[in-house]
Amino acid sequence: MTILVTGGAGFIGSHATVELLESGYDVVVIDNLVNSDIEAIKRVKELTGIDFPFYQYDLLSYKQLQKLFKTYKFEAVMHFAGLKAVGESIEIPINYYHNNITGTINLCRVMDEYGVNKLVFSSSATVYGNPSTVPIYETFPLSVTNPYGRTKLIIEEFLKDLSASNPKWRVVLLRYFNPIGAHESGRIGEDPKGIPNNLMPYITQVAIGKRDKLKVFGNDYNTHDGTGVRDFIHVVDLVKGHINALNFLEKTIGIEIFNLGTGQGYSVLDLINTFSSVTSIDIPYEIVERRPGDIAICYASPDKAKKILKWEAEKSLRDMCKDSWNWQINNPNGYRS
Ligand code: NAD
Ligand code: UFG
Repeated sequence: MTILVTGGAGFIGSHATVELLESGYDVVVIDNLVNSDIEAIKRVKELTGIDFPFYQYDLLSYKQLQKLFKTYKFEAVMHFAGLKAVGESIEIPINYYHNNITGTINLCRVMDEYGVNKLVFSSSATVYGNPSTVPIYETFPLSVTNPYGRTKLIIEEFLKDLSASNPKWRVVLLRYFNPIGAHESGRIGEDPKGIPNNLMPYITQVAIGKRDKLKVFGNDYNTHDGTGVRDFIHVVDLVKGHINALNFLEKTIGIEIFNLGTGQGYSVLDLINTFSSVTSIDIPYEIVERRPGDIAICYASPDKAKKILKWEAEKSLRDMCKDSWNWQINNPNGYRS
């Protein structure tokens, strides 16, 4: 069974490719490398000992997609490719709308043309906006506050319309909470370009001495220590959920939505303290103003995924810290080391 992985050189897509190969699937990966490095593909091949086709293709090129679908008979598509930086999406919304939405429409058009109708899509907990209660269930109302989030919501709506149009479509929307950690080998991991936007890569860059100190965005939230609370999930647990989603697609029709989170919320200070305890490295930080658009608390109810996908996260916050650090220490400059 051959699975097409879009965005397979990226953080989550590279881990998913390892998981797919180790589960016995054949894989073809495409990525335009706009936010990743070809080295990630080499490392996935080295880690698994399996060779697979990689194409530096862009979802915006319908011609390239047609060429691909002419060459391979895909069973299903795992669609990770997209731009994902919230701040950047506010500055360059045209790129975000074009890349994420047009890219997904192109992908679905070519899938339709070649009779491939199973799709697993990377959505985000960002579509819940600022939830009025936690844990967050899949049935909660949706709202978004930035262009990136809006592209995810629009794609979700598009995929719902597509599924409603023809029962041959089988779609799973996976709403990720906060993926961190890395493959335990330390060979693949998150490799942000420039200054990291997200908490964990910032912490590891402070730990390795690339940045002086962490800015903690606000300690006046209504949480147990005043800092923001999130549902951090190990990337390897997250991608295992995708394999379960693929199995689920075999025996279902229509569209189904699942949260992928642990169900446990930890604060920014909890993460800093756990990281320090695991690595014995002090993380200097200062409290600064809240970051605009941030919410106080966000964590999933993973009950639906547990019940229907038979999946649940297994790794602890300590595992996440250990593996993020192992990746950083072995690759001080990411894939450019
Ligand atoms: P990433 O940037 O590491 O990976 C995305 C990959 O897609 C990159 O390798 C990039 O080069 C590629 N890409 C982008 N546009 C493309 C195009 N037009 N054609 C071909 N390739 C293209 O990001 P990630 O963290 O691995 O995220 C994967 C998916 O999960 C994204 O859709 C993201 O929005 C979603 N997601 C991520 C998070 C998170 O915190 N990391 C949370 C929720 C959802
Ligand atoms: N934070 C800091 N300092 C930093 C970075 C982050 O204090 O330098 C705090 C934030 O204020 C927040 C928490 O750490 O309270 C987590 O922030 P991240 O930027 O790591 O993650 P977010 O929850 O803001 O957003 C992430 C992804 C989004 C996605 C969302 C929901 O970046 O794309 O999770 O899945 F939409």
